[in-house]
Amino acid sequence: VPLQPLNSLHIVAKAQALSRIHSQADVLALLRDPAWAQVPKFVLGGGSNLVLTGDVKPLVLKVEIKGRRLVAETDKVFIVEAGAGEVWHDFVAWTLTQGYAGLENMALIPGTVGAAPVQNIGAYGVELQDRFDSLDAIDLQTGRIFTLNAAQCAFGYRDSIFKHSSTANPEAGQQALGLKDRALIVRVRFALPKLWKPVLGYLDIDKKMAEHGCSQPSAQQLFDWVCEIRRAKLPDPAVIGNAGSFFKNPTVTPEQCTDIIARDPRVVHYVLADGAVKLAAGWLIDACGWRGKSVGQAGVYEKQALVLVNRGSVHGADAATGGEVMTLAKAIQTSVYERFGIMLETEPVVI
Ligand code: EPU
Repeated sequence: VPLQPLNSLHIVAKAQALSRIHSQADVLALLRDPAWAQVPKFVLGGGSNLVLTGDVKPLVLKVEIKGRRLVAETDKVFIVEAGAGEVWHDFVAWTLTQGYAGLENMALIPGTVGAAPVQNIGAYGVELQDRFDSLDAIDLQTGRIFTLNAAQCAFGYRDSIFKHSSTANPEAGQQALGLKDRALIVRVRFALPKLWKPVLGYLDIDKKMAEHGCSQPSAQQLFDWVCEIRRAKLPDPAVIGNAGSFFKNPTVTPEQCTDIIARDPRVVHYVLADGAVKLAAGWLIDACGWRGKSVGQAGVYEKQALVLVNRGSVHGADAATGGEVMTLAKAIQTSVYERFGIMLETEPVVI
């Protein structure tokens, strides 16, 4: 099965087998089938945070579970649920038309609802975890259906329990439970505030407010601005293959930051509530001269150095390979490390 249309970097690769999942029952039937029960599996959502470095041997489960509805409300929040296969941006747009505000800062993030908790997507001051209620998932080893709340998802910056493998640490007498390659997310529920306030304070958003002479934007207004901002600086994966930010913004100690400022006083940095300092990885990469550079058909996007792009056609055989993308990523990591002493962490899942 060709995977080029199913990953947003549009890398050419094949799956040995792929099953389209339309419901929870589809998963349970597959797990009961002796031909498939024990086979290693890989869960695929929108494929927008994925680098394929070869053909995929595990059975690919392409999640296409649909549905969106209000499931409950309290005096403070609406609890809105969506099937894991819903397109994230379409879901955000739908919530606003229904009068449920709160997801607007995360407009236009590529991918599906089910993939959103995996990396705790976020933009313009709001992360998925800020609006998360709970999710239902299926354990692919046991067929058990379970529910996790936010604490149980162990959300961090672009991180969750779904990105980690189970690790036993006998020395500490601990066992950390990771769910990487183990769980298939079926549905996600969001808690959207009835007393909604806009989340502002991001430079790009502030600029839009000044432009429009508006100090109290509506949720729909914010949604429109976020779409405009993203369209202006991030490539549309339907036109130019990419996986969003390829690296995480690193967090350093104040001492490390002082050291980096000594190397280049222009470094873009933000002091966090706990005193740690967050650096703009895009700036670090840009400062090393990478913007617009390429390795084969893999390139650094001209308008945002944090994004690696496929310079080949999205349907064609001239596309970048996963190897080219990873070679470019490693060269960037080495050069940022040599110049600033910081090892950038990659963000997408590499298989
Ligand atoms: N910058 C440069 N050169 C560049 C790119 C950025 O100097 O080539 C500077 C910018 O001028 C700015 C700073 O770096 O001062 C930060 O850039 P920006 O505001 O574009 O945000 P970011 O830190 O690059 C993060 C998220 C994005 C999210 C935006 C807005 C990560 C890894 N990325 O990007 O998320 O949309 O903030 O909130 O945290 C994603 O995860 O895929 C993603 C796109």
